[in-house]
Amino acid sequence: MIRITVDGRLYDDEVEPRMLLVHYLRDRLGRTGTTIGCDTSNCGACTVLMDGVSVKSCTVLAVQADGCEVTAVQGLQGLTDGDLYPLQKAFHAHHGLQCGYCTQA
Ligand code: FES
Repeated sequence: MIRITVDGRLYDDEVEPRMLLVHYLRDRLGRTGTTIGCDTSNCGACTVLMDGVSVKSCTVLAVQADGCEVTAVQGLQGLTDGDLYPLQKAFHAHHGLQCGYCTQA
């Protein structure tokens, strides 16, 4: 059993010990804004905030997020009163796709 807050909503869930956080977010919670770009922990497309620290959710087990507050991309707007988060604005302004690593300002 894990208790996790995702984008301000509390979830109590039973998960497989080997389930990755990215799969929990996408497959269990339907939060498909968190994408899987490489599945080899290189791209960063799966990045979420876990207790305010960015993590690649494909390298974190869902059980490791037990008791944590996770902010996925959909939750960023909740931090800015419905406006785009500064990172989202930068992606939009510079045509960033997926992780945005190849995007130049
Ligand atoms: Fe590429 Fe996680 S899916 S780093």
